[in-house]
Formats: sequence, C-alpha cells, structure tokens
Amino acid sequence: MGFLSVLSTAHQWIRERVSPGDAVIDATAGNGVDTRFLAELVGLRGTVYAFDIQEAALEATRRRLAPLEAEERMPDIRLVLDSHERMRDHVQSVHAGTISAAMFNLGYLPGADPSVITQPDSSIAALEAALALLKPGGVLTCVLYPGHPGGEDEADTVARWAAALPSSTGQAVVYRMLQKPAAPYLIAVERSRK
Ligand SMILES: C[S@@+](CC[C@H](N)C(=O)[O-])C[C@H]1O[C@@H](n2cnc3c(N)ncnc32)[C@H](O)[C@@H]1O
Repeated sequence: MGFLSVLSTAHQWIRERVSPGDAVIDATAGNGVDTRFLAELVGLRGTVYAFDIQEAALEATRRRLAPLEAEERMPDIRLVLDSHERMRDHVQSVHAGTISAAMFNLGYLPGADPSVITQPDSSIAALEAALALLKPGGVLTCVLYPGHPGGEDEADTVARWAAALPSSTGQAVVYRMLQKPAAPYLIAVERSRK
C-alpha cells in the first residue's frame, strides 16, 4: 500500500485540526492547490489568508477557486500579494491567536521562473509569525525541497528551527522518506494546548 505522500500527509494533519468556520493561512499560494483545500475545509463561514509574492500565483489561485465561487461555497478569501514574513500586517487582529492551520510549501512556482524562490531568512521569519498566530492545538505544516538548488540549505535551516523550539511552545515532527534524501519532506508543529 505504501505510506501517504508528503503533501497528502500535510493535508491529513490539517484536516484533523480544522473545522468549518475556522480562519487559516496558506503562506505560499503558488498554483492554489492548498488554498482550495483550505477553502473547502473552512467553508462559507471561514476565512483563508493566502500569500504569494507573484501576481501570476495569485491569478492561478483565483482560477482554482472559481468553481467554489460558482457553487456559492466560497469562504472569505484574502489573496495577499506580499511576502509571508509580513503576514501579521495582513491578518485581522480578531484572528490573531485563533488560526487553526498554516500551510507552507516552500520552493518555486511550478512552471514559472525557478529563481523566484523562498529564502531561508524570510521563511524562518514567516514560520515564527505563523506560529504566533496559531491557536492552542493549531498546526503549522511546511513542505521542504532539499533536491532544489538552494533548497537543501533552506530545509536544514527550517529543520534546525523546528528542533530548537521549546516544547512549551509546541511539538515538532518530521515525515520523510529515508531512502530518498533528495525527495521533499514535511515538518509540522502543533502549538501547545496550554
Ligand atoms: C511550491 S510553490 C507553492 C505551491 C502551492 N502551495 C500550491 O498548492 O500550488 C511556492 C510558492 O512560494 C512563493 N513564494 C516565494 N517566496 C515567497 C515569499 N517570501 N512569500 C510568499 N510566497 C513566496 C512562490 O512565488 C511560489 O508560488
């Protein structure tokens, strides 16, 4: 049968912790696959913040969300053209500390310029910002790409960041195919329930 893929595992861990009406974050909208997944989970009464630094990514995300709009299943969706490290400036105060999930899928937009890519320093700043916005028991997932140019350095930086988090802040886990060191892998943090 095999284990779930990294992306399906991220979705599963999020599905287990998100309810209709919740507020959630997609920190790297890209082609909108994760934004749509989150939009379907939170439903009409929910809120989804989705960030990307490329207008083409937000446009692709808008197109992927269109069927939900047509079916009147669209939550409050805020597509933000800005770096995710500034997410706190865009998330409404009423949602600070109530976010039930924040998804990161690092790297570059498939099919676009691969030099426009997430960077270790801004990714860590964004992960810190997302963690601070989570509610107790909320989850942050981060898919890392050690096989991309620059990706290994970023993956190592994120793994060190997660491993160094105090357990009073949250519990950090890794999901990785050990025989494929260059394959994408997943780090997640569940915010402490206290
Ligand atoms: C691997 S793709 C994301 C895939 C996406 N989650 C999906 O479901 O299609 C990574 C995205 O991160 C975006 N990105 C790069 N640096 C960023 C930053 N500082 N802030 C927000 N997004 C960024 C890229 O433009 C790209 O679209």
